[in-house]
Amino acid sequence: MLGQDESGAPVIIDLVSPWGIAVAGQSRSGKSQLVYRLLATAANYDEVAVVGCDPTGLIFQPFADALHPDWRASRLSDVGPHVEVLDRLVEELDRRIDYLLASDLDQFEDFSVEFPLLVAVLEEYPALISTSEADDLADARRPGERYAPRVRRNVRRIIQEGAKVGFRVVLLSQRADAAIIGGSERSNLAFRISLRTVDADGVRMLHPLATAQMIIRLSLAAPGVGIVDGPGEVTRFFRGTYMTYAQYLHDVRKNIRMSASHE
Ligand SMILES: Nc1ncnc2c1ncn2[C@@H]1O[C@H](COP(=O)(O)OP(=O)(O)O)[C@@H](O)[C@H]1O
Ligand SMILES: [Mg+2]
Repeated sequence: MLGQDESGAPVIIDLVSPWGIAVAGQSRSGKSQLVYRLLATAANYDEVAVVGCDPTGLIFQPFADALHPDWRASRLSDVGPHVEVLDRLVEELDRRIDYLLASDLDQFEDFSVEFPLLVAVLEEYPALISTSEADDLADARRPGERYAPRVRRNVRRIIQEGAKVGFRVVLLSQRADAAIIGGSERSNLAFRISLRTVDADGVRMLHPLATAQMIIRLSLAAPGVGIVDGPGEVTRFFRGTYMTYAQYLHDVRKNIRMSASHE
């Protein structure tokens, strides 16, 4: 549960349903805070693993001792580990698709410690792309060896093919830029959240049903306030529940220690 809408009804992101999540909003609008809430809940479940790329390092900070460290990259001092994590996640994607086809299922719905639901966080995704591009230039990589196209290709595959095999992408960006998230990727990210932004085009792209009035109101929204769309849900305003960073670290670490003691 991320917060409440204006009628007081809970705003819920259902990680079991096979959809990814797009979060957009300008700096300090509350994007990371919203992901802290989501992951603090996800960390309650041993059958959920948090993976992906966190250029800030803040989101993955409490996951240092969690299972699957090879599926997480933190900080952006070196872009190489991020590229490798995405390669490994695509290997896992292919492994799972093979397994799906061999098991006569059309999607996986049962998860376990051995076969976890993978919440794949892509924090500040445009920064990962631009840093990869800068790194390709600095190292004068040949076309076939470049990081940026490899990152884009891997992320596109995870978004397009991952939902039915237990990937739940959480993609964060300041703007819902068409050059960063294309239309077919967007259609797989059915949970859409926009926090404060003056980028009306970006809001319309993520929320086709948002009214002009909503867009104006969103440009002035307080941190943590935004609009949300879910699969088959109409666009509505909500206020995210606040959780301090210290509380986030504490809750996630406690859960990781508890799951380790079960083993
Ligand atoms: N739901 C919320 N309620 C109250 N304040 C919030 C909320 N979400 C964020 N904030 C405030 O906004 C600041 C920036 O949030 P942050 O998640 O870091 O934004 P972003 O990731 O978009 O840059 C936080 O440090 C906090 O003070
Ligand atoms: Mg942030």
